[in-house]
Amino acid sequence: MNKEILLRVENLTKIFTLGSMFSRVKISAVNNVSFNIKESEIFTLAGESGSGKTTVAKIILGFLEPTSGKIIYKGKNIIESQKEDKKSIRKEVQAVFQNPFETFNPLRMVHNYLVETAKNLGANSNYQEVIENALNLVGLTWNDVVNKYPSEFSGGQLQRISIARSLLTNPTLLVADEPVSMVDASLRMSIVNLFAKLKKEIGLSVLYITHDLATAYYVSDRIAIMFRGEIVEMGSVDKVLTDPKHPYTMLLKESIPEPDPKKKWTKDIKILTLEEEEYQMKGCKFISRCPYRMDKCKNPVPDVEVDGRIVKCCLYT
Ligand SMILES: Nc1ncnc2c1ncn2[C@@H]1O[C@H](COP(=O)(O)OP(=O)(O)OP(=O)(O)O)[C@@H](O)[C@H]1O
Ligand SMILES: [Mg+2]
Repeated sequence: MNKEILLRVENLTKIFTLGSMFSRVKISAVNNVSFNIKESEIFTLAGESGSGKTTVAKIILGFLEPTSGKIIYKGKNIIESQKEDKKSIRKEVQAVFQNPFETFNPLRMVHNYLVETAKNLGANSNYQEVIENALNLVGLTWNDVVNKYPSEFSGGQLQRISIARSLLTNPTLLVADEPVSMVDASLRMSIVNLFAKLKKEIGLSVLYITHDLATAYYVSDRIAIMFRGEIVEMGSVDKVLTDPKHPYTMLLKESIPEPDPKKKWTKDIKILTLEEEEYQMKGCKFISRCPYRMDKCKNPVPDVEVDGRIVKCCLYT
């Protein structure tokens, strides 16, 4: 069965301008990025630090305005929609933040957050039941959380509670930016498994942003690999991670720590020459690190379909 598209990101670009009037620097954080997320799908954005993942997430969540491009949610462009529409979209598209310890004030009992959110959403005498249902979905109960401060929970438990709080609004999409990076390694899988469970049980979609290809492989349906603001490879997680076609995806996959230390980072990372930097303005951004670079990589690189996934690479043109 073909799933419906829930959210469509179209030609998204974000340019930050830094500096004073006299010395402006432009940073192209996100450059013409397009992808979509289907109903009850876990879609991962992965890529190294600074590749633009958080910027994409912030634009989807309405925390940042794009320089150009559209975010189409259930057929409506969120960027241009009216205040009332924006409000209801905000309920349906919820953020899960990186650090659960920052989500909760250490001096406030955690259940108060849940009660406040449930009441704001219109629950009255039945608020405890509404909260219990949300907590059950993340494997907790009201008794587990009532009358406790954040310090009485582990990072993993607090992340579950913050997810339960998001579920109170009956969201269709969770935007989870590095949701497990502050959680103990031993508990990471349980949070990622929770996304898979929520997808199965309530049809939730998740935009999962991570550096961690191991959890991405385990939980995602599809994955997009970002490099310097662009998607360089996108397709089913199985194809992209077991048989990567873009040299950057190959490098990322190789850089997952292996038990054999000799296998880590065997490739040189070359410093750019000025000439190469200029070419990068219009050509492949990976050129200086690519073992397969050719003359044609200095020209704009089209997206091509290779073995059932999209790749931005001249090796296939
Ligand atoms: N508010 C801002 N002002 C100026 N530049 C910014 C701003 N936010 C992000 N950037 C720049 O945009 C680029 C993309 O940043 P972003 O935070 O989206 O990357 P990321 O992929 O989420 O990285 P990480 O994996 O470290 O979280 C970086 O070069 C960053 O320095
Ligand atoms: Mg980030």
